[in-house]
Amino acid sequence: MNKEKFYITTPIYYVNGEPHIGSAYTTIAADVLARFHRMKGEEVFFLTGTDEHGTKIAQAAQEQNITPQEFVDIISSKYQMAWDVLDISNDDFIRTTSSKHKDLVKFFVTKLKEVGAIYEGEYEGLYCVGCEKFLTEKELVNGECPDHKKRPELIKEKNYFFNLKKYLPEVEKRIDSGEIKILPEKIKKEVLGLFKQGLNDFSVTREKVKWGIEVPFDSSQVVYVWADALLNYITALGYGSKDDLLFRKFWPANIHLMAKEIIKFHAIFWPAMLLAVGEELPKTIFAHGFFTVDGQKMSKSLGNAIDPMELVKQFGSDATRFLLLSQFPFGSDGDVKVGNFAIQYNSDLANGIGNLTSRVLSMAEKYFPANDGSHAKGGQGASGGLVPERDSELAEPVKIIWQEFEKAMESFEVDKVIEAIKKLNGLCDSYVEDNKPWQLAKDDQEKLAKVIYNLLEALRHLGVMLYPVMPQASQKILESLGKGDFTSIKLSDLQNWGRLQSGTKVVKVDALFPRMQ
Ligand code: MSP
Repeated sequence: MNKEKFYITTPIYYVNGEPHIGSAYTTIAADVLARFHRMKGEEVFFLTGTDEHGTKIAQAAQEQNITPQEFVDIISSKYQMAWDVLDISNDDFIRTTSSKHKDLVKFFVTKLKEVGAIYEGEYEGLYCVGCEKFLTEKELVNGECPDHKKRPELIKEKNYFFNLKKYLPEVEKRIDSGEIKILPEKIKKEVLGLFKQGLNDFSVTREKVKWGIEVPFDSSQVVYVWADALLNYITALGYGSKDDLLFRKFWPANIHLMAKEIIKFHAIFWPAMLLAVGEELPKTIFAHGFFTVDGQKMSKSLGNAIDPMELVKQFGSDATRFLLLSQFPFGSDGDVKVGNFAIQYNSDLANGIGNLTSRVLSMAEKYFPANDGSHAKGGQGASGGLVPERDSELAEPVKIIWQEFEKAMESFEVDKVIEAIKKLNGLCDSYVEDNKPWQLAKDDQEKLAKVIYNLLEALRHLGVMLYPVMPQASQKILESLGKGDFTSIKLSDLQNWGRLQSGTKVVKVDALFPRMQ
């Protein structure tokens, strides 16, 4: 049987600035979804990368007195390093300055010309370099771009225009009918509203920009940076090349993930470009909320961008992932208060998951010692514990939490994924408090065995559940239960209650999340 496939993308990030918690947020969320779908046994392709052309980047390079290529090489590698440190499991990292991408973009614009989807014209308009787009008078606030607080430049030049108007009715129909799902629902409404306001054809090439991909049929032009960027989702798969196996396998994307500020490009322009060349359209476009910091948009110029690497230094990679994802409902905006991270870390991770893990493993060792003379790793001379006889008291509540977890994953609500994890943690904590194993140890060995089994097995479920969000903690928990090698086992099997066999040796782990002072 053919495996189901799952293709997930993040936006490709501009390299005029270094990674910050905004780009990290989208990338971590995409990673969580990619890991979950791999666990389900699907074939996953997870793409992220960097958007390296355009005026904004050329200007940033000039400010540093280096060539644009030198500049983009440096910043792109910072993204790749950051994603490595954050345990992002992307299958590819696309750079728009790669020769493969450039060649395939040229192929695509040539095709647009061949099918008659573009025409030559003259553009006169207000261009915001920060947004890399033309703005209308209506969009300005006091004559300035509301996002970048700068007056856009008046530009008059020859461009090739994409005949957007021709494709709009079809794109609108597909969005309205849900054939392309735009999520959350309020964003879908906003997008449908844009059709009502009216949309103009847009330039797919620019004349006065030098740092870009040269248009093959007109050397006075480079490809407009947004057309260049959107195409990454298919050039990475080899669209238009001899080696288009990945394209045939993974396209259309199951989900393009991003924040809402770039929804128009993804929900309207991109499907229209695909329709023009007769390709399938992405299935889901999800726009999550936007982080502000102390009420302000994060930006290089304001100097308030939070570096995810600093968070990793303080909290570790797992906790950084957890903390960022748990700030707000996934589709909502919110003001990030990094000052509260240590409090949340202590309560959810040090006192929560970390404490539960060490408590359960210590009790197993104390009440059901392995006594096999070997020395368990992490314990001082301790030799671990043995899993008691199977019991299933917690099977049902754990199953319900799994259902909530999966529902959250399927609807891309990563904050609810975190809620499910916390719920399982809470279930185990209350189970310990209700049953008081230290009392049972004095007067009811039989019940004690049942309680410890339930806790160890529930801890195994927690270990599995943590994998998409906190892969390192997940690995440590499952290793301590003798279940380290689990990624080749399907999630539906891992979810069965009772996989932890009685007699298995379990060992303590070093503190998963040491308390912050
Ligand atoms: N290069 C374009 C995207 C091209 S995709 C074909 C771009 N780049 S960007 O560097 O500005 O990245 C924008 C994306 O980064 C957002 O859509 C979102 O995914 C993420 N975020 C950037 N800042 C963010 C916040 N402050 N909050 C949440 N996400 C943020 O646009």
